[in-house]
Amino acid sequence: MAGNFKRLFNFLVLFSFVSVACFVLVLFYSRRSFVVIVSEKHILTLGNKTFSGMVKEQVAKLLERRIKASNKSSEMAPTPSAVSLTLGPCPENPPDLIGPLLVEFDFGRTWEHVRKEVSPLLQKGGRFKPKDCVAKQKVAIIIPFRNRHEHLKHWLYYLHPILKRQLVDYGVYVINQDGEGVFNRAKLMNAGYVEALKEYDYDCFLFSDVDLVPLNDRNLYRCFDNPRHLAIGMDKFNFDLPYKTFFGGVASLYKHQYLKINGFPNTYWGWGGEDDDIYKRIVLRGMQVSRPDLLTGRYRMIKHQRDAHNDPNPKNPDKLFQTHWTMNADGINSLKYTVKNIEKDILYTFITVDIGSPE
Ligand code: UDP
Ligand code: BGC
Ligand code: MN
Repeated sequence: MAGNFKRLFNFLVLFSFVSVACFVLVLFYSRRSFVVIVSEKHILTLGNKTFSGMVKEQVAKLLERRIKASNKSSEMAPTPSAVSLTLGPCPENPPDLIGPLLVEFDFGRTWEHVRKEVSPLLQKGGRFKPKDCVAKQKVAIIIPFRNRHEHLKHWLYYLHPILKRQLVDYGVYVINQDGEGVFNRAKLMNAGYVEALKEYDYDCFLFSDVDLVPLNDRNLYRCFDNPRHLAIGMDKFNFDLPYKTFFGGVASLYKHQYLKINGFPNTYWGWGGEDDDIYKRIVLRGMQVSRPDLLTGRYRMIKHQRDAHNDPNPKNPDKLFQTHWTMNADGINSLKYTVKNIEKDILYTFITVDIGSPE
């Protein structure tokens, strides 16, 4: 009888050790589960060691070995916590877009009010990045400018919230023509392209007049497979294109599209024609113009008189007959200007440039 008890006792001891060994093996192959197991209290007693004490001891040894091994390969593969911290790409269709918007150029709107409403989440210089995802494009928004501060205030009031909802990684660059010389919209936009690239690795450039506000936030301020004309339905043209090849107001080009057309012309002084020249450049380089539909592409323009020193230039329409050959030597490759001042506001980067005068 006593012999039977002894055999049974020996068997139980052996069985316990085999179980512990199997348990430890299982732990070794399942890293995730050990944390839970270690925290549990076990009450089985073997001699003066507890069962849970033995398990902890084994796990600690294994863990030490695994950490040493994983330290060696940590440069190759990210740790699980690093993976969970990596942001995913922003959705193709941003979820917070509203669609048609109410836009009113309220004379009572003050700079203080605009600043208070719009500044949150912006970084100095009118910069913004979505915080929960990585935007696919880095968009420089370039505004040709002189003496239109009232318009700029409304533009910033409406556009910053729209751009934030569109989940764009963007910066706003107001390119201010220095002095009282003849205005040159396209040359200012070229200067904006160069200045923006000095700051950040932008891959998309969106050029906007200061007085144009979209009436639909589904009109995406980003770049497309072809150069994009966004302002197709302005109120002043009865929400329609004034003519088929119109490319005025707001347009976007990827960096490579912009470079393919040698940027914009520098030689269109005064009002008119420079946007038609850009359209011709695009077509001459084998690209098409991309556009939203007419409902999405609606805009309101702040009503204004023609500015001083920006009269229609009668020379400009004739220049359009020569775009096919002038475009090779008149553009980003021939751009000359000097920077007079750079001001960083929370709402925008304001760059004053001397672009000279007609030759
Ligand atoms: N602009 C400016 N100051 C001027 C002239 C023009 O800031 O003295 C800029 C501004 O961004 C404006 C754009 O150039 O929206 C186009 O000029 P304008 O508004 O006169 O053109 P239109 O209304 O005929 O499209
Ligand atoms: C001019 C363009 C202008 C358009 C609409 C054309 O005659 O050449 O520069 O954008 O009219 O005003
Ligand atoms: Mn205008």
